Amino acid sequence: MPADPATPPISGPERTTVPEATTAPQATTATEAPTVSEAPTTHERATTHERATASQVTAAAGFDPGTPPLPEARELPSGLFIRRARTPDVKAIRGLVEPLAEARILVAKDPVNYFESLQEFRLVVDRSGPQEVVVGCAALHVLWDDLAEARTVATHPDYRGRGIGRSLMEQILADARDIGVSRVFCLTFETRFFQSLGFEEISGTPVSPEVYVELLHSHDEGTAEFLDLARVKPNTLGNSRMLKHL
Ligand SMILES: CC(C)(COP(=O)(O)OP(=O)(O)OC[C@H]1O[C@@H](n2cnc3c(N)ncnc32)[C@H](O)[C@@H]1OP(=O)(O)O)[C@@H](O)C(=O)NCCC(=O)NCCS
Repeated sequence: MPADPATPPISGPERTTVPEATTAPQATTATEAPTVSEAPTTHERATTHERATASQVTAAAGFDPGTPPLPEARELPSGLFIRRARTPDVKAIRGLVEPLAEARILVAKDPVNYFESLQEFRLVVDRSGPQEVVVGCAALHVLWDDLAEARTVATHPDYRGRGIGRSLMEQILADARDIGVSRVFCLTFETRFFQSLGFEEISGTPVSPEVYVELLHSHDEGTAEFLDLARVKPNTLGNSRMLKHL
């Protein structure tokens, strides 16, 4: 079992300023940002998974027309919320990931990669203050017809041990089932965390030789690490390869 590397220094989580509202009747200013309980529900647009907890589905109101509205969010037992990512979240996601990438715990990415993979991300956000704060992220990257990778799973150091990682992973695994994936891979130092979610350590690359050859066509660095290519081996030293059957 590899030793966990030291957590790198990291500043406070990125805060999304709530823009001043101009039109909506429920609109409030940044200093009067709506509490979550005051926000209108939009059950119609909830996903199948989110409908299961429709009473908890909320959407924030009163945003500047130039700012994309916040997507529906499902409240977690902790009082935090889980939702899909949107383009203005990229800065906050990078703030979570980059110190971990510098420490070689997560794969380093260029800014464009976050935008390209934005729809893969789920976020946990703290809405207890006037500014929403992104405190955790996770992404599901599909590799092949039955296989996906859980990647970029990170909780801000100040928020660890509060079930955020577990909630993100449970959502990611539900997303995987929804889209027809039956196996989820991850490459990680956090073996106990993933074991607690039903992942098991494996060796090698869990695809047929034919699929392996097809995956070699990918330009994705994470896929190169999944394939255990020689050029990326220095990035994955000490990591465990883990797999969960759904
Ligand atoms: C892994 C990580 C996302 C866990 O986040 P978290 O929000 O603290 O996790 P949770 O609070 O949901 O913990 C879930 C469970 O795992 C356990 N756990 C979490 N981190 C653990 C660790 N480092 N060692 C042992 N157990 C751990 C918790 O005790 C908890 O168990 P329980 O549900 O039975 O009580 C976080 O430590 C992190 O950001 N690590 C750096 C990035 C990384 O390595 N990501 C994984 C590879 S993509």
